Amino acid sequence: MCGIVGYCGNRDAAGILVEGLKRLEYRGYDSSGISVGFENNLTLIKKKGKINNLKAAVPSDMPGNYGIGHTRWATHGEVNDINAHPHMDASGKLAIVHNGIIENYMSIRNKLIKEGVEFTSETDSEVIVHLISKYYEGDLEKALKTALKHLKGTYGIVAVHANEPCRLVGARNGSPLVLGIGDGEMFLASDVTAMIAYTKQVVYMEDGDIVVVDKDGFRTTDLRDNELDKEISTVGWDIGEIEKDGYPTFMEKEIFEQPESVLRGMKGRLDFEQGTAKLGGLNMSSRELRMVNRVIILAAGTSSYAAMVCAYLLEKVARIPASAELSSEIRYKNPIVEPGTLYFVVSQSGETADTLYAMRELKRKGATVLGICNVVGSTIPRESDGGVYIHSGPEIAVASTKAFTSQLTAMYLFTLIMARMRDMSTQQGQMIVESLAKVPEQIATVLEQNMNIKTIADKYAHCHSFFFLGRGLTYPIALEGALKLKEISYIHAEGYTAGELKHGPIALINEETPSVFLVPDDGLREKIISNMKEVKARKGPIIAVAVEGDTEVADIADDTIFIPKANELMYPFLMVVALQMYAHHTAVKLDRNVDQPRNLAKSVTVE
Ligand code: M6R
Repeated sequence: MCGIVGYCGNRDAAGILVEGLKRLEYRGYDSSGISVGFENNLTLIKKKGKINNLKAAVPSDMPGNYGIGHTRWATHGEVNDINAHPHMDASGKLAIVHNGIIENYMSIRNKLIKEGVEFTSETDSEVIVHLISKYYEGDLEKALKTALKHLKGTYGIVAVHANEPCRLVGARNGSPLVLGIGDGEMFLASDVTAMIAYTKQVVYMEDGDIVVVDKDGFRTTDLRDNELDKEISTVGWDIGEIEKDGYPTFMEKEIFEQPESVLRGMKGRLDFEQGTAKLGGLNMSSRELRMVNRVIILAAGTSSYAAMVCAYLLEKVARIPASAELSSEIRYKNPIVEPGTLYFVVSQSGETADTLYAMRELKRKGATVLGICNVVGSTIPRESDGGVYIHSGPEIAVASTKAFTSQLTAMYLFTLIMARMRDMSTQQGQMIVESLAKVPEQIATVLEQNMNIKTIADKYAHCHSFFFLGRGLTYPIALEGALKLKEISYIHAEGYTAGELKHGPIALINEETPSVFLVPDDGLREKIISNMKEVKARKGPIIAVAVEGDTEVADIADDTIFIPKANELMYPFLMVVALQMYAHHTAVKLDRNVDQPRNLAKSVTVE
């Protein structure tokens, strides 16, 4: 969603701001803008559409060593130059950028209009700049703090005033804000990707923090002016990880990174001898874990399908009642929190509003909530009672791929711990540990199918509707395969459990509606073959994802993607990679913007 970048230092700010915005593109946006300060003047440039439109409008020799920039993902008001941020006050001396939603903006706007303020945009954010302007008496920090007392809603804000050159003032409440500490220069941004080219020293702002930054230092306080002591962290990854590295898209790069990212998620966590795993950050003793009698996992989108796989697994392998819930639903269900229930929240970004607010609601009711997240320092891991970082590295493509397999990795390890604490034998545990350790190599084998998958994807790219069908552990993978295809290729796709097909959806099967069947060699194989035959009898084209050597399935299917033989619990990892590649090739064939699909955002920070 919206992205913020702010800079003060000795270099030309315009170039740094535009480059920072370019790095934030992956979050999803529809317009962008910068305001650059040169001595006691601010210049404002805003453009609808891609950053390249903004870049073209910014003079290459634009003077100014401080400023703010923004990528907007429209919520209030249409997509145009005027609604883009930054927003300025009438004096042209004060500018702000804002992420989040101001819930009471209408009443503030009406009041300010009565006081004679003229609004130029339709956004909720514009009230912020006029409120600060109203209270400004030569001290931007003070004026911002006064203005914030009138706002209801969520915000990450950065403000500049031309009367206080080379100073940025930021505030956070519900929308991320990170400070970057450089050598004689400082950055404020909604995530570290915007500043990683210049510094790895960062401070993660918390809700309620106000930060005042000039090129030599920073100061953080709360709204009541109490000084806050903030910890400086070092970012654990390099700029190379957010470059395409020769791949045409980030999504393809991230799909191909999975042998390493899954391996990284297991590193040092597998115990081959005891047939179990170690997860340091759970913050729960063995005794406490043994007392858990139910696990509920919440998440949104792709992460919710990882949650579903894991709920299946926890029941099947650890024999603990478990379920997956959509974050956006559980929050408003007035959930019953019972003793003995352990909650997990799964989120790549660690910022998804639906998941974050659901987590807060559960914690309010006394639940213990653990996080499974990728982005270090993001809000969910900081507010949860403990958890696991999945270490898949920065995921830039909007469509989540490597984070999914890393989420599975973390949850498989947790399941193993729980199973071994209960009735799983050492031998069984060792067998699972060994099978897990083989997964990275087996994913690499699936990746070798790339050209075969491309041929099949190209063949069906003209179709308007797809079914993805699985059962048991591969049912959530079918849902994920359908989501991947629809979000990046814009083809309608439905994920179903294959057993449900005959209860209605089969009415849609015809020669133009392919069904992608996931066929592991487990106890459900025969049932799935029967479901394939039902589709075949209605002339529906079939693409099978089957285990190497399964000629019976290949004979029924029109096209087959083979995955290597593995322990039956590991097929979700292998099948999902094949489906990610399938969706990617289809989107490329249809000339879609694979990394930044229409209407979508990487980090969904609104409900
Ligand atoms: O950052 P999160 O994992 O919490 O994000 C949840 C969803 O918004 C996300 O998985 C979304 O569905 C992706 N576009 C899927 O590719």
